[in-house]
Amino acid sequence: MNRRHFLQHTAALSALPLIPRARRSPEASVPLRVNGDRLNGWLSAFDAIGRTPGGINRTAYSEADLAGRAFTLDLFRQSGLTPRIDAAGNIYARVDGRDASLPPILIGSHVDSVTNGGNFDGPVGTFGAIEVARTLRERNVRLRHSVDVVCFQNEEGGTIGSKLAIGALTDAELNGVARSGKTIREGIGLTGGDVSKLAQAVKRRGDIACYMELHIEQGGLLDKAGLQIGVVEGIVGLRWIEVTITGMSNHAGATPMDQRQDAMLAAAKFTVVVNDAIRAEPGRQVATVGRASVTPNTTNVIAGEVVLTVDLRDLDETKLVRFQAAFEQLGRQIGTASGTRFTFRNLVDSLPALADPRVMGWIDGSAKALALSSQRMPSGAGHDAQEVARIAPMGMIFIPSVGGISHSPREFSRAVDIANGANVLLNAVVAADMQ
Ligand code: HGY
Ligand code: MN
Ligand code: MN
Repeated sequence: MNRRHFLQHTAALSALPLIPRARRSPEASVPLRVNGDRLNGWLSAFDAIGRTPGGINRTAYSEADLAGRAFTLDLFRQSGLTPRIDAAGNIYARVDGRDASLPPILIGSHVDSVTNGGNFDGPVGTFGAIEVARTLRERNVRLRHSVDVVCFQNEEGGTIGSKLAIGALTDAELNGVARSGKTIREGIGLTGGDVSKLAQAVKRRGDIACYMELHIEQGGLLDKAGLQIGVVEGIVGLRWIEVTITGMSNHAGATPMDQRQDAMLAAAKFTVVVNDAIRAEPGRQVATVGRASVTPNTTNVIAGEVVLTVDLRDLDETKLVRFQAAFEQLGRQIGTASGTRFTFRNLVDSLPALADPRVMGWIDGSAKALALSSQRMPSGAGHDAQEVARIAPMGMIFIPSVGGISHSPREFSRAVDIANGANVLLNAVVAADMQ
């Protein structure tokens, strides 16, 4: 099917209710489709990279992450694409459009994982985008816009690659340490980037026609409702706050209970009050104390220091400001009462981002054309899309996470849903091209 023919069909599809079935050509009801078996085969093979008894460990800049990036580069090449790594360490490849004066449509995601994570968070969107590009090439669908596929580096460390792509990473963040123990600065070099040339990797408003990202939902809404596609309306803002609680190490046996400056006890109380505070008002806000390191972390020593992290999220930036101030106030109160000192440091700040109504419309139309059930919904997870949204119209396509589980070795999405999501992405790209 050549492009003109396809476009007539897609246009017809979007006007489906207006064209009586009898008059439509038989192909008109058949939108483009990816090779779902090939896409799911890639994901199955990818599962071996970074697979450990605890789950998938392709944490940014680790050996497994670098192996995962090498696997991804191979997929680009097998698909007839020529990947290039920019100064930020992000991987890009292009399917040329007919009109070089138009900015490209950008699609993609990431392939790094959290510690003990799953195989689907990131790779579904990155490999889905490669499959879309490959299908366009194989079906000789030559769009007006070029289509760029991107694999952002270190999404799990705070959307680092996409922040670099919009020139939003601070110097302090450059010196931050990833879960693999490498600094971001080191990681940029390890992924093939060049810290001295980061400005060359920055994209400005107007450089991208729109960005669309296919991703697993990571929550349970679609799975519970039996829906096939989620059309994301907005992505929560998030703050990762490091809380250092300083007490005084002392003998666990010889120190009376009323003469302690116990950092572990203060940390436990703080964890409880954070949970109480975030639940004290209606809304979708969430806060998680997910990480703790204790010094000296010894059975018979009162903890002298505990470093916690708080992951705070909401669609409304003003609520993030308000809750962070409340947590800091609560920490100081606990410190005064327990003879400990609380200090706070923001590790990551990502602003909330709304999807572009037109992009959501293309995704809606694509799901309908494919006869897939869909609904609009927010994203409780953070994504590269929320950074790209600072400079381009953005949209996200969700597919169900079975049981709503993610960031866990039990993360799972069905092959049929993965293929559906890639088909929606493919037809949304074609719809975007027609604008
Ligand atoms: O943390 C997140 O929401 C994302 O998976 N990086
Ligand atoms: Mn992700
Ligand atoms: Mn994730």
